[in-house]
Amino acid sequence: MGGLRRLEYRGYDSAGISVISQGQLATRKKAGKLENLVADIKAHPIADSRIGIGHTRWATHGAPTDQNAHPHLGGQSSKLALIHNGIIENFSELKQELLDAGTSFASETDSEVAAHLIAKEYEASKDLVSAFGKVVNRLHGAFTILVIHEDFPDLILAARKNAPLVIGIGEGENFLGSDVAAFVEHTKRAISVGQDEIVILRPSGVEIQGFDGHKVDSKEFTIDWDASQASKGGWPSFMAKEIADQPQAVADTLMGRINSEGMVTLPEIDGLDAKQLMAIDRIIVVACGTASYAGEIAKYAIEKWAKIPVSVELAHEFRYRDPILTPNTLIVAISQSGETMDTLMATRYAKEQGAKVMAICNTQGATLARESDAVVYTHAGPEVAVASTKALTAQMTAVYLLALFLATGRKSMSAPELSQLGKELLKLPAKVTEVLSSLEQVTDLAKKMSKAKTVLFLGRNVGFPVAMEGALKLKELAYIHAEGFAAGELKHGPIALIEQDQPVIVILPSPSDPLHPKVISNIQEIKARGATVIAIAEVGDKEASKYAENVWYVPATNWLMAPVLTVIPLQVFAMELANAKGLDVDQPRNLAKSVTVE
Ligand code: M6R
Repeated sequence: MGGLRRLEYRGYDSAGISVISQGQLATRKKAGKLENLVADIKAHPIADSRIGIGHTRWATHGAPTDQNAHPHLGGQSSKLALIHNGIIENFSELKQELLDAGTSFASETDSEVAAHLIAKEYEASKDLVSAFGKVVNRLHGAFTILVIHEDFPDLILAARKNAPLVIGIGEGENFLGSDVAAFVEHTKRAISVGQDEIVILRPSGVEIQGFDGHKVDSKEFTIDWDASQASKGGWPSFMAKEIADQPQAVADTLMGRINSEGMVTLPEIDGLDAKQLMAIDRIIVVACGTASYAGEIAKYAIEKWAKIPVSVELAHEFRYRDPILTPNTLIVAISQSGETMDTLMATRYAKEQGAKVMAICNTQGATLARESDAVVYTHAGPEVAVASTKALTAQMTAVYLLALFLATGRKSMSAPELSQLGKELLKLPAKVTEVLSSLEQVTDLAKKMSKAKTVLFLGRNVGFPVAMEGALKLKELAYIHAEGFAAGELKHGPIALIEQDQPVIVILPSPSDPLHPKVISNIQEIKARGATVIAIAEVGDKEASKYAENVWYVPATNWLMAPVLTVIPLQVFAMELANAKGLDVDQPRNLAKSVTVE
C-alpha cells in the first residue's frame, strides 16, 4: 500500500491489490482514489502476506468502476491475478477467441483478456513461466503486466513492452514498480527492465529473460532519490512542497556542472561523440506539455548562445509528419518521467532515421534515459503532484547548461561572456528562494479570483512559453479557461477577447530589454479595452506599476534565465486559486502524471 501511495500520481481512477495469504489469493479493488481501497481493506481485512501486486489505474478501456479496477482474475477457479499498465491493441480478437471457448468476463477491460489467456495456458501446461511467456508474445501494443498465482506463493512474473518497469533489489526481498519511487524506501538498488523482457522475481533472486527466452544480463544502478523526498513532509500538498523545493532542484541540477571559473562541463554526455556534437547543424526538441515549454526556452537560449537553429515540436505531432532528419540533427527529448509514450515514440522514430538523441530527464532508470545516446539528468527529486513545477525549473536549468556547453564547444561566445553567464546561473537558486519568500500578494489575489471564468496570459520572447505554462497550470489545476499568447500576436485576433474586467497576466521583460517598451504598449492597448492587468516584472521596473493594477516583482537576472523566476508566481497563483475552489491540487481530474499511452 505504501508503494501504491507513492505511485498514485500515475493514475487515480481506481486502485486494487491481490496478495497470496494463507495459501489463497485475496483481492480488493475499488473505484476512486486509493483512500477508497484503504477503507475497503479496513472493512474487509486480509491476513498478513509476503507477496502481492497492486495497481492504480488511469482508465483507457472501460469506465473507472470497481469491476474494471485491477487486479483482474483469470482461470476456472480464479487462482491467478494480473495487473496491467498500457493498452493491449489486439484485445478484441483475443477476447473473441476466449468468448468462443466459453470464458466469461467480469470487466470491460483489455487487461482481463491477458489474465484469462495466461490462466488457460497454465491450466493446460502446468508451467506458469512458459504459459506467461507464450501469452505475452501474443499481445500487441504497450504493456507492463504482473502476475501472481495461488500455486506459486513466492513468485511474481512480469513482462514489459513499451511501458515502464523497474526492479528493486533488497535483502531477501525484491520489488517491481513502474518507477523507483514505489520502492525507494526499501532499497536504493535497482535494475531497469528492457524492452520485450520477462522478469521472474522471487524473494531470493531475480532472473530476466527476453520474450524469446534468452537470458538477459542486467546492470544495477543506485537510486539517488531519498524516500523522504517523496513524502509531503508537513506541507498541505505535494505541489506546495515541490514549489518550495525549487531552489534545491535548481541547485542540484547545477551541482558539479559549473566550475569555479563559471565554465560549464557536462561529462555525462560522453555517450555522444564530441566531434559529432559540435558538427550538429540543427536541434529539434521533442516534448509534451510543460516539458515542451522548457523546450521553447531551449530554443531561445541555444540559438542566442550556441548559434544552432532549434525547433521545438510537440512529440505527438513530430512522429507522424515524416520530419526530415540528417545525421547532423540532434534530438533533445525533455521529459520529467522519461516514460511519456508520445516522447518515446518520437525519439524512437528519430533514432530509426539515424539522428542522435539526447535526453533531459528527471527519473533514473526511465525508458527515455535507457534509449537515448546521452542523458542530462535534472536532479529535481521525485515529483509527485501531477502539475509539473520543480521538474520544469530544473529542466530550464539543464537547458541553459546545455546551451552554454554547446556555446563553449563551438566557441560561439568569448570565454568571459560564457563565464559571466555560468556565474549568473549559479545565482539562480538564491533568487528562486527570494521569489518564494514574497508571494503573499499572489496568494491574496488568487483567493479573490476564484470566480474568474477566463484568464489570459501574455508574454514575449522567453516570456511567451512562461505565459503558456501559466495558462496550462490554471487549466489543469483550477479548471478555468486560460490561454497564453505571444503579446505581439494579440492585435492579430485575440484582442477581441478583451472586455471589461478581463483579467490578463503579463510577463514583462527586464526594463533593460528592447522588448520592454513594446510589452508596455501591449498593456496599454488591453487596458484601453477594459482589461485588468497583473504584471510580473523585474524589481525596480518603474513602468510596470503605472499601468498594471497588480505587480509581482522578481529579482533581476539575465533575461533568458528569467523564466526560472517568473514562472513561480504563476505556479502559486494556479495552486492557490485551485485551493480556494476546494480542488485537489495534487491529483486534478482526468489526468495522470505519466502519460504512458499514445
Ligand atoms: O513526464 P513528462 O515531462 O514527459 O510529462 C509531460 C507532460 O505530460 C507534463 O508536463 C504535463 O503537461 C504536466 N501535467 C503539466 O503540469
